[in-house]
Amino acid sequence: MNEYVPGLAGVPATKSNISSIDGEKGILAYRGYDIAELAANSTFEETALLLLNGELPTSKELESFDRQLRGERRVKYNVREIMKYLPPSGRPMEMLQTAISSLGMFYGGDDILTDAYEEEDTYFIHSMSVKIIARMATIVAMWEHVRNGYDPIEPRSDLTHAENFLYMMKGCDPDPLEVRIMDACLVLHAEHTINASTFTAMVTGSTLAMPFLVIAAAIGALAGPLHGGANQRVVEMLDEIGRPENVEDWLDMRLADKEVIWGMGHREYKTKDPRATVLQKLMADYAEKKGNLSPMFETALALEEACEKVLGVKGVYPNVDYYSGILYTEMGLPADQFTPIFAVARIAGWMAHWREQLDNNRIFRPTQIYTGAAPRAYVPIDKR
Ligand code: COA
Repeated sequence: MNEYVPGLAGVPATKSNISSIDGEKGILAYRGYDIAELAANSTFEETALLLLNGELPTSKELESFDRQLRGERRVKYNVREIMKYLPPSGRPMEMLQTAISSLGMFYGGDDILTDAYEEEDTYFIHSMSVKIIARMATIVAMWEHVRNGYDPIEPRSDLTHAENFLYMMKGCDPDPLEVRIMDACLVLHAEHTINASTFTAMVTGSTLAMPFLVIAAAIGALAGPLHGGANQRVVEMLDEIGRPENVEDWLDMRLADKEVIWGMGHREYKTKDPRATVLQKLMADYAEKKGNLSPMFETALALEEACEKVLGVKGVYPNVDYYSGILYTEMGLPADQFTPIFAVARIAGWMAHWREQLDNNRIFRPTQIYTGAAPRAYVPIDKR
């Protein structure tokens, strides 16, 4: 069993009961619940608790979790000061990783992770999860103001998670339709089995590192354009194409240069990603309610159609990043914040996997197939 599989494609890295994918049928479920149903009926708070605990919460459980999240939104002013010293032109994912790591400086608990009783563990893991889930949204929204030279907008405890995030990002009472869309986007992005960032969180968690570092590591993995960074690239790509009538020529050129089409293809799906289907519908409904079909959306529809003809045979279809960036653009959110917004959602899944990892922990230590030089004698520098 020493065969090397590039990218560990198809190699099980764990046993998990958090989410499942049927890549042939295009189905994603969290704890057995279909993602389309959750996006239509649930909220981010409820979905996060489902992911963390395994069951849909009762109204009392949800109320308590919601209250905890609302109470944990503020961040220490030291963290705000750190953010102020970061270059405003820097990439927000580096800021996010820095700010989340720095939060860890304020909390102990290393001893609980290493040698504590079961009950203490569960309490610690839950309270850390609440702190990080709540503050991830705060930090992303704070950056929007800090990098523009303003003080961040204080979080409000009378708003839901999605409402508060949009309020803090935009500085005004959020539009109810946009809140509903944002909530659905957070639900859709909250979890996705053992992807690169979740695996990173699990590997880091398996060393019994503190949760802020576990999540900082996952943020690093999410940042790359082959993972969470693709949504920003999609919007830049659609801007470059400009109009639906330019799609065919642009696609021919792009494929001839052997370049990827951003937002297309997925290791797990051989059909259209079910999240892309929901996001496309949300975008269509949003455009209809606003009374204008955005040119970017029109171009995306044309590109999807053109791609299906040439990439469909390889099982390459739109993934979650294809339509999310268009929605965010229409909602007035800046492109370089799309991946941080992905993290605002995915934090729920990361925390659930961290907990699952600790429940049955063994440090990750895979092996390798050595392809280097045979043993040889050291050569002094003057003899080389
Ligand atoms: N554009 C063009 N061709 C693509 C493609 C894309 N976005 N995604 C896959 N393909 C092609 C590959 O070139 C390959 O073709 P070949 O068999 O002729 O060599 C074939 O489809 C299989 O792709 P492969 O690279 O083996 O898939 P993977 O599972 O290793 O990679 C991704 C999956 C997501 C990394 C890949 O599809 C990709 O780079 N997509 C764009 C980035 C993106 O949107 N990422 C977000 C994922 S949620």
